[in-house]
Amino acid sequence: MAIDYSELIPNNVNLSEDRVLQRALEKWQPHFLDWWKEMGPEGFQTKDVYLRTATSVDAKGWATYGMVKMPDYRWGIFLADPVADRKIGFGDEFGKPAWQQVPGEHRSTLRRLIVTQGDTEPASVEQQRLLGLSCPSLYDLRNLFQVNVEEGRHLWAMVYLLHAYFGRDGREEAEELLARHSGDVNKPRILSTFNEPIDDWMSFYCFTYFTDRDGKFQLKMLAESGFDPLARTCRFMLTEEAHHMFVGETGLGRVVKRALEVMNELKTDDPAAVRSAGAIDLPLVQKYINFWFSSALDLFGADISTNAAGYFANGLKGRPDEEQYQDHICREGTMRLEEPTEDGMAITPIDVPIRNAMNAIARQGYIKDCDIGVQRWNRLIRKAGIDFEIKLPSERFRRTVGTWAGFHFTPEGQPITAVEFEKRLSGWIPSSADRAYVRSLMKQVTAPGKMAGWIAPPDRGINNLAVDYEYVRL
Ligand SMILES: [Fe+2]
Ligand SMILES: [Fe+2]
Repeated sequence: MAIDYSELIPNNVNLSEDRVLQRALEKWQPHFLDWWKEMGPEGFQTKDVYLRTATSVDAKGWATYGMVKMPDYRWGIFLADPVADRKIGFGDEFGKPAWQQVPGEHRSTLRRLIVTQGDTEPASVEQQRLLGLSCPSLYDLRNLFQVNVEEGRHLWAMVYLLHAYFGRDGREEAEELLARHSGDVNKPRILSTFNEPIDDWMSFYCFTYFTDRDGKFQLKMLAESGFDPLARTCRFMLTEEAHHMFVGETGLGRVVKRALEVMNELKTDDPAAVRSAGAIDLPLVQKYINFWFSSALDLFGADISTNAAGYFANGLKGRPDEEQYQDHICREGTMRLEEPTEDGMAITPIDVPIRNAMNAIARQGYIKDCDIGVQRWNRLIRKAGIDFEIKLPSERFRRTVGTWAGFHFTPEGQPITAVEFEKRLSGWIPSSADRAYVRSLMKQVTAPGKMAGWIAPPDRGINNLAVDYEYVRL
């Protein structure tokens, strides 16, 4: 379905045919814009940015590129095309027609799922609002803003569902999505990770690599939902999301590449020497990965979860890529997981009814997906002739949610005491000195084509343009 850009709110849902809904969303729109101007990227609202905008929702050629001032970005409502006669693909309702309206008995659960997803979208914009002031290049600045405007659009996606399908309480929730703010003591965002500021670019690349990838898996699960409008919304969001993870993967890859260049120039693998040359040493990259990976794992929830079992049984939230499985009902059978012994000093297997293990299943898919980029970075390292291997830490490491929370493990997954963990932690995740060093590198670079000294240039520019194209006109 083509997107109608002649409307105040671009959309492909025939919004003009539902005057009541249209008016309600047109009332929300200025509130969104006020939020964007107040909480969005600081210092660049009047600048031209080379951004992509969705023009259709099919996988090929859905975007158009051009110079846009961010407040003029055409945020709108874009759903993937409907699948004719779509059936519910899993759970107790398997094979029944997908719902075009919210079933009464699942109303509050669906609303909560949508609000929780929706809350993360503007939260990340708020977390990243000062990053532009320390961008390593115009190319990166543009990518940051692309991610930011698309997270704004993802908020639109969830707000549309709330307005269109949840009546008055949906409209109230939509207002609340603009009223909570990341890090606000009185009205924080729902999930704690989304209340931490992201104030350096290493954290931004890790966020887009690890946290946005959690988002991808959440969207994949919701894209299976029996509630068809939610499924279609999430399917289109996934195509936008891919760029965010590209920014993370290539960003971290370029940091690694720069470290390797410096190591080879100076003929040393001494981290201190790499730092004195103004680059980010590989052990420090590993520490950032340890930090962000472990906090992203928590976002999947408890390993053994009756909530997750309920979402699956009721057809609300499936497994990522549900069709890859043989059994979509999962009423029988177990899955083998692990848990710590009571004293936390050993690991034992545990068999869990498969429906109760849905979070663990999604998390395992996520871990595999995370490792793909890690292996790419390791290829760069090997090619440079350097003896170092980046590794994802064990899923037991530094967890605050699920089976491993409250116990202590090394990044390799070995049980240790709390005392030893505290003693060694600053060797595993960025210490305050490490963070101060990274902060000292964060100086804005804005000459077209120029890169900060701690990051290598990208292999190519955006949309076939040169790397030294003026992606943001300052
Ligand atoms: Fe998003
Ligand atoms: Fe994202």
